[in-house]
Amino acid sequence: MSKSHLELTGVEMAFDTPKGPFVALDNINLKIQKGEFVSLIGHSGCGKSTVLNIVAGLLQATKGGCVLDGHEVNSPGPERAVVFQNHALMPWLTVYENVELAVQQVFRKSMGKQERRDWIHHNLELVNMAHAADKRPGEVSGGMAQRVGIARALAMKPSVLLMDEPFGALDALTRAHLQDSLMEIQQELNNTVIMITHDVDEAVLLSDRIIMMTNGPEATVGEDLYIDLPRPRNRVTLADNPEYVHYRQEVLRFLYEKQRKLEHISPRRSGKPEASKSKQSEAQAARA
Ligand SMILES: Nc1ncnc2c1ncn2[C@@H]1O[C@H](COP(=O)(O)OP(=O)(O)OP(=O)(O)O)[C@@H](O)[C@H]1O
Ligand SMILES: [Mg+2]
Repeated sequence: MSKSHLELTGVEMAFDTPKGPFVALDNINLKIQKGEFVSLIGHSGCGKSTVLNIVAGLLQATKGGCVLDGHEVNSPGPERAVVFQNHALMPWLTVYENVELAVQQVFRKSMGKQERRDWIHHNLELVNMAHAADKRPGEVSGGMAQRVGIARALAMKPSVLLMDEPFGALDALTRAHLQDSLMEIQQELNNTVIMITHDVDEAVLLSDRIIMMTNGPEATVGEDLYIDLPRPRNRVTLADNPEYVHYRQEVLRFLYEKQRKLEHISPRRSGKPEASKSKQSEAQAARA
């Protein structure tokens, strides 16, 4: 009998708020196989980061739970590396030391000193940050700090890589370069990836599966789309591939539908950061 590698069952997340419990997620059920690349997509505030934080063990579901390789997840662990939405580096450590901290945690016993040093440099080179190894997070740009966060996560060779909008703050060229590197690394290591993105093209290019979430509150899995495109994938040749075009249209259709529902509930939301973010994904949808 084949058991799921990662399984979310009946997950509810209710946050305590001054106005009473706020049910962000309701009845999320997901089975993910080893080595699957899964993207989570959905409008701003629907609960994507909350799902990721539950898998990371940073949040405990109020009902149901998450099981990884037969063990219930209730705390963070080095086999589940996280790339946060806001990069979350230690500000007092240099770029090199931030990656070193994670590498020490995982490989102190299995790698020699020089091997660890080479491995840290290799990962910094991968994200094109080796030149800034001695700088502190406060001395580099947001996009650069984000790349260090990616290097730190990759350097842990995690069996599950959790990424919250990892490429959102990067310029197009760096973004494309890192997307390609991530695809290569993932093929090589066969790690499971759960990535949150607002970018439809990114989701289709990288994923084996796109989980589309309904709008919150009480958000759940709306659609589960399998992306059956051969690997390795090449962004240039895929652009005209009818299957690829079909997949991205499916995702756009879903997002537009949910956008209409949002506008129906709250037609005048402009000015608030949340609204501008959902406008951002709408603009992305329109651009595509
Ligand atoms: N600690 C908390 N207390 C109360 N409400 C919370 C808390 N964390 C998240 N929420 C609410 O839960 C919902 C889901 O939040 P979450 O951050 O998971 O959304 P998201 O899909 O990641 O959004 P975005 O795309 O903007 O990052 C939102 O309505 C948010 O306000
Ligand atoms: Mg989020």
